[in-house]
Amino acid sequence: MAWLLTRAYCPRALPWASRCLCGLMKVRSWSQGPLTAYMPEAASFPGARDHQSLYKTSVEQGDAFWGMLARSRLTWITPFHSIQDCDLRQGRAAWFLGGQLNVAVNCLDRHVHVAPDKVALIWEKDEPGEEVRVTYRELLEMTCRLSNTLKRLGVKRGDRVTIYMPPCPLAVASMLACARIGAVHAVVFAGFSAESLADRIRDAQSETVITVNQGLRGGKVVELKKTVDQAVKQCPGVKRVLVSMRTDNQLPMTALDVLLEEYVFDYQDRDVFGCVADIGWITGHSYVVYGPLCNGGTTVLFESTPVHPNPGRYWETVERLKINQFYGAPTAIRLLLRYGDEWVKKYDRSSLKVLGSVGEPINKEAWEWYFRVVGETRCPVVDTWWQTETGGICISPRPSNPGDEILPGMAMRPFFGISPSVLDDKGNVLLGNNVSGALCISQAWPGMARTIYNDHKRFVETYLAPYPGFFFTGDGVYRTSEGYYQLTGRLDDIINISGHRLGTAEMEDVVNHHVAVAESAVIGYPHEIKGEGAYVFIVLKKDSKYMEETLAAELRELISKKIAKYAVPEYIQVTHRLPKTRSGKIMRRVLRKIVENKASELGDLTTLDDHDAVQQIIEGHKHLVERQKSC
Ligand code: PRX
Repeated sequence: MAWLLTRAYCPRALPWASRCLCGLMKVRSWSQGPLTAYMPEAASFPGARDHQSLYKTSVEQGDAFWGMLARSRLTWITPFHSIQDCDLRQGRAAWFLGGQLNVAVNCLDRHVHVAPDKVALIWEKDEPGEEVRVTYRELLEMTCRLSNTLKRLGVKRGDRVTIYMPPCPLAVASMLACARIGAVHAVVFAGFSAESLADRIRDAQSETVITVNQGLRGGKVVELKKTVDQAVKQCPGVKRVLVSMRTDNQLPMTALDVLLEEYVFDYQDRDVFGCVADIGWITGHSYVVYGPLCNGGTTVLFESTPVHPNPGRYWETVERLKINQFYGAPTAIRLLLRYGDEWVKKYDRSSLKVLGSVGEPINKEAWEWYFRVVGETRCPVVDTWWQTETGGICISPRPSNPGDEILPGMAMRPFFGISPSVLDDKGNVLLGNNVSGALCISQAWPGMARTIYNDHKRFVETYLAPYPGFFFTGDGVYRTSEGYYQLTGRLDDIINISGHRLGTAEMEDVVNHHVAVAESAVIGYPHEIKGEGAYVFIVLKKDSKYMEETLAAELRELISKKIAKYAVPEYIQVTHRLPKTRSGKIMRRVLRKIVENKASELGDLTTLDDHDAVQQIIEGHKHLVERQKSC
């Protein structure tokens, strides 16, 4: 639901002016024009004259606020009779009761009635300069044909459909076609291995998979259909695989395959929302597909990588497609920063109005470079905090608010309707400023996750039970002395590699499958480019004759195959023992300090069962880091 506010959040034509205060990092932005210019609904709340009072209204009169937005911005098949029935203590979150809508109708039909030839998608293909524009009318046609194909093949309301495709118009049409007929889509990031794909297909009990013959990424062919074929061998429940031809390469068909036809596209020139996330992640769902389309915008589907064919790719795309709002991940910004300013300055970025960042904390250096070099200090940088479970942006600067300051490395302010709280580990709400703790949200909002498919108990245990009455995000947060929110990282055993969340347990599970491995511990450590990297500690089986290099190579291969290439660890350290408490729990905080090169700050070790083990690990870590450096 928060993506309903995409337009309000990234207004199309607000004149921006930003300047740096103190020559350093404090940035102010000013906008002209009343609040109602980009959020006409504000007029219905007499007290809401500015952002501050509208935010207050959105939290204090949540029902009226969300009800108003839902009525004015969505087309309902059956209007809702009550706005919400939420009780976070009881694990209940129900919105717009009695109401019925179709999100595909809201993303397509509504706009086709008004402006059928407006460009909905710009597919920025891997091959630079070969973009494809798809109008709302064409996207609706494509979606309807695909919905009919799905229905003809027996896909019904409530069935799960796995989409394993790179960002392309047919992938968006597949999502919308599922939504149109009431099927549930599970978009699996097309970088995942056959094993990971198979897990997800089985978990969703999906009978249908939609894919392409081959993908193209960074100039390389990615064998997506072959991966699907391998995955499907492990999923007897799959009844059909719909295949679209992304390249000319004909592949052998299997008995399950259904070939999809190609479509013809129109070419037009319009304004653009440029979120470069993959549609396999939540950012792609909310800010490439549903948010922009529901708002009748033009959205970019970026298929390539930031460095293909060279590190100027993003900015060349901005120039060519005249992107107005660019939304990307810190990991890519950090990578591009290394290549220097020239790759950016070569291209005209005057179309840009707002620069967004998402997925992980953006460090000050990267923020500064994004702001100064990419945006020429003209475009506010919005560091947006949210997560899959929140559905849309929850904490973020709001540069459209006159006079709001923007500070680097900080998500800053709660978005409309979001009431963040900071709780200590005993569950006390920490009032006032200058406090750190767990980030929780005290009031339900329409975009929040309501359950875990087939496992409501797990949903309640993970998100609602840890702090009764609150939605627990799993992130740590610091509320600054000025009352701004600064995210401090995950509180659980999750690492965030290049903006992709990965459970350390999942990687340990893969590593432990190797014949030579007795046990392992995977720890996240700060990584210059990826934000976090995985550092793997291994204890070998007693009789193992493996050479360390061979083992490391095999483990990397295994992780790449079973999880994904992005997860492959740079550091794999073999050790005799892992540091454990006397009750046998791995002391992860000790390992974390070691990999962060803070071995002098190990803290209280009274529960540690073997102090020598820690010393050996510290030595081993030093050697490994030196060895990697010299390679
Ligand atoms: O830890 C937070 C981090 O990414 C997590 C959410 O990951 P995911 O569900 O994959 O969604 C990614 C796209 C929204 C969060 O729990 N995170 C996300 N944005 C930020 C962030 N950490 C710091 N600052 C952010 N702006």
